[in-house]
Amino acid sequence: MPAEKLYAIIGHPLGHSLSPALHNWAFGETGHPGVYMAFPQEPERVADFFTAMRALPIAGANVTIPFKVEALRQVDSASAIASRIGAVNTLYWKDGRLLGENTDVIGFMAPLRERQFSSALVLGAGGAARAAVVALEELGVPRVALANRTFAKARKLASELGCEALPWEEREGFACDLAVNATSLGMKGVRVAESPVPASFFKGRGLAYDIVYTPERTRFLADAAAAGWEIQSGVAMFVEQARAAFALWTGLEMPREGAYALVRGALAAK
Ligand code: ATR
Repeated sequence: MPAEKLYAIIGHPLGHSLSPALHNWAFGETGHPGVYMAFPQEPERVADFFTAMRALPIAGANVTIPFKVEALRQVDSASAIASRIGAVNTLYWKDGRLLGENTDVIGFMAPLRERQFSSALVLGAGGAARAAVVALEELGVPRVALANRTFAKARKLASELGCEALPWEEREGFACDLAVNATSLGMKGVRVAESPVPASFFKGRGLAYDIVYTPERTRFLADAAAAGWEIQSGVAMFVEQARAAFALWTGLEMPREGAYALVRGALAAK
């Protein structure tokens, strides 16, 4: 019998994570002898987790808010993408060294590969916007602009990542064929009916991509679809970041269709 391997997710708070169910299901499907557990961690004790990771050892881990920046400091080496974004969401071992990757960026890119865009607008300036801008740069989108309600944050992030900062009031006039919602508008809760752009924003043809996945069809995506735009929900980014982590840990492919079905089923049951 192969020895069981322990995988972990740390974050604070962690209550709503779908990652344990998804990875444990995939271990069962692929026959990989893994067990994935959630370890909510108090921010002041996060260093203890990295000691445990090396001592036990834990075979692989996901890191979520607010520990992704600290995780970059704790690894022996990080990928170019993780270093560029300044955050690690996946830890794995190679030749006895603890490595860091950012599969949020890889997951965001997954539905956009093999496609061409001439101009992208990213709405928001938090961690999700940061991942989106790095991903669009990696994909070679020629023009990327960032608009955020608080302009100073857009300007700071844009100058750091080398893209344009657009005043929030000018977002509607910005012509693009890819629009990304990286704000929290549209998320289940008080802002569920809101979108970062008015419906009249969606002119011509393009793809609207929402990082929010609860609910899957946000106001932003509904308005885009009504205007004839293609839409992409945040479910893809979530599933694909998990599939990329799973591949790093096991060398195996997490079955795609089953993974989407599991996540959609879990979201519908919430
Ligand atoms: P994350 O790291 O997940 O991206 P975040 O750092 O909290 O989360 O960022 C949330 C984003 O949603 C921010 O860009 C925020 O804009 P501000 O920087 O101006 O706060 C944006 N956001 C939240 N509520 C908003 C609202 N009512 N209108 C416009 N943007 C909003």
